[in-house]
Amino acid sequence: MAVYFGADYYPEHWPRERWETDAALMEEMGIDVVRMAEFSWEKMEPREGEFHFEWLKEAITLLAAHGIKTVLGTPTAAPPAWIIEKNPEIQPIDSNGIQHHFGGRHHDCQSNAVYREHIRRFVTKMAETFRDNPNVIGWQIDNELGNSHGDLCFCPSCENRFRDWLREKYGTIDALNKAWGTAFWSQGYSSFEQVQAPKITASGKNPSQMLDWKRFCSDLIVEFQQFQIDIIRSICPPSQFITHNFMGFADKVSYFDLGKSLDFASHDQYPGGYFAQAPHQPNERLAAELDFVRGTKEKNFWIMEQQSGITGWECMGRAPKPGQLSMWSMQSIAHGADTIVYFRWRVCTVGTEQYWHGILPHSGKPGRRYQELKSFIHKVRPLMAEIQGVSPKPDVGIVFSYDQEYAMQIQPHNPELTYIGQVMRYYKGFYKKNIPVDFLSDQGDFSRYKLLIAPLQYLMDPVLEKKYADYVRAGGHLLLTMRTGVKDRNNICMSDRELPGALSEVVGLEVSDYDCLWETSLKVKWGSKEYRAEKWSDIIELKGASSLAECASEFYAGSPAVTVNSYGDGLAYYVGNEPGEELMDRLLEELTEKAGVSPILETPEGVEVMSRRKENTEYIFVLNHTEDTQKLEIPSDWESCLEGQEKELKPFAFQVYVKSV
Ligand code: GLA
Ligand code: ZN
Repeated sequence: MAVYFGADYYPEHWPRERWETDAALMEEMGIDVVRMAEFSWEKMEPREGEFHFEWLKEAITLLAAHGIKTVLGTPTAAPPAWIIEKNPEIQPIDSNGIQHHFGGRHHDCQSNAVYREHIRRFVTKMAETFRDNPNVIGWQIDNELGNSHGDLCFCPSCENRFRDWLREKYGTIDALNKAWGTAFWSQGYSSFEQVQAPKITASGKNPSQMLDWKRFCSDLIVEFQQFQIDIIRSICPPSQFITHNFMGFADKVSYFDLGKSLDFASHDQYPGGYFAQAPHQPNERLAAELDFVRGTKEKNFWIMEQQSGITGWECMGRAPKPGQLSMWSMQSIAHGADTIVYFRWRVCTVGTEQYWHGILPHSGKPGRRYQELKSFIHKVRPLMAEIQGVSPKPDVGIVFSYDQEYAMQIQPHNPELTYIGQVMRYYKGFYKKNIPVDFLSDQGDFSRYKLLIAPLQYLMDPVLEKKYADYVRAGGHLLLTMRTGVKDRNNICMSDRELPGALSEVVGLEVSDYDCLWETSLKVKWGSKEYRAEKWSDIIELKGASSLAECASEFYAGSPAVTVNSYGDGLAYYVGNEPGEELMDRLLEELTEKAGVSPILETPEGVEVMSRRKENTEYIFVLNHTEDTQKLEIPSDWESCLEGQEKELKPFAFQVYVKSV
């Protein structure tokens, strides 16, 4: 399955006479694969049971004549009007009880049994039609599952499925009452039938119920995908892969779970964001989402939609500057993408996405973006062949947990505190130093990392406590933060010990009190220098740990703010606040030195360095995110990997080196 570059193609938006021109232009540009049909249900089944796959077969054959393979999307994110007319009950209902209607996309309830039958009929037929097509190399299930489901669906069907999920989890209603602490506000239930989805209430909700609801919604999406995977697997040969396009840190479904039965993960990478982040999303955020998607299956991935022009629906973002689209593509590759599919081949003249630009402009005439990406593809194709399956191998891991994220969303403590925000603080610290990072789930293998960062381990259980303790005992360097070990997995505050519970021994301290820093910050003194911390401050009592930095304001001035404890053969750090940028820099200096982790290369701000490594060879990617020419000191044992590489790095240019390791 050697495929490197692709385009998201919608032949049904264009006259048949144009297809040949498109295919020829794609071939010239170096396109190897297209993704098609993920929103084309109505074109494939305009009336129930009346299937029209001819046009799609014809497009596949025509593209194949130009050496281009096809990935097919199941179009289940856009059920056609005739389905809605027949079964309006499949339209989702939000937490206010309001139904969301046809006219956009994602107007489907993912638990609805009637909708499942429509999917079964359609996907079965689609799979049977294309299973033997040698030009169809794989499938994408639905599209960006969880997207447009801000609130997911609270319809009677979803509510019933929630009750089934709770029955399965708790067995008895008494067990649920205990787990949710329903003694509070007279919330006790005498049967599962009384339990509702957390719809709009007159006042605050039960945090344990909300956490279970979020987990249920995630499980429902996973099951919705599995329903389609099972159909395709039962019909199509294993040589046709199955993937799904993730959305980085989107939170509606656990990508660790969603990824399990996929052959590989895919991701949609839009540096321009939806349009509002001017001029584009922060560089470290782009890098982090790529690392995160790699972490979901602990292997390389595809980009199924890589930005290829201005983004925007009603409003638009900035035009990518010359070189920027290529550099962003290279960034995806540097972090482990083995194939890059550009969204979209040609910007539409119709519909919601008239201004979400593609490789070709409205006129269809190859312009600046086509020429730039064409030369990019031709330049890096040999490298792509060489690095397929070769992954980054970081020494630093950041533990990522949807459970912690959900619990912090339900009770953020400080309105400015977010789980992703704190994770990104740490990530950015490493990113600025050109120290690669993996994301891993708390089920992952900690022992691979010299240094493990575990922010906001708010929900805790004995198994995870032991896992952290074992990691440090065996010589690991672990960092735990504020709000660790506060609650059990039911989102109920633990009361048997001082915080952080059983991990107290590992970090060598107790948190006797705390302070939520609203609209103010905390001074922290590290040696002779003063820094800033934010959002929260633990008031720490040392029980064996040493203090590295102390609070220097508030009534608890002088109490520890950052600590280290030796435990077994390792070191356990504890940070009682959210470090400001400079405090983070100081902290990471300490951590990386003690853990023996070093940067790939030191570079000026805005120049990113990343690496992919196999046995004896390391490929190093240097990316200039700035509009300035940058001078670099490239070590003498790094060999240039691409033709015509200059000493200095022009605006938005990139370089790739190889060295023996
Ligand atoms: C998402 C979707 C695409 C398209 C783009 C641009 O990533 O997967 O179908 O809608 O956004 O809006
Ligand atoms: Zn529903």
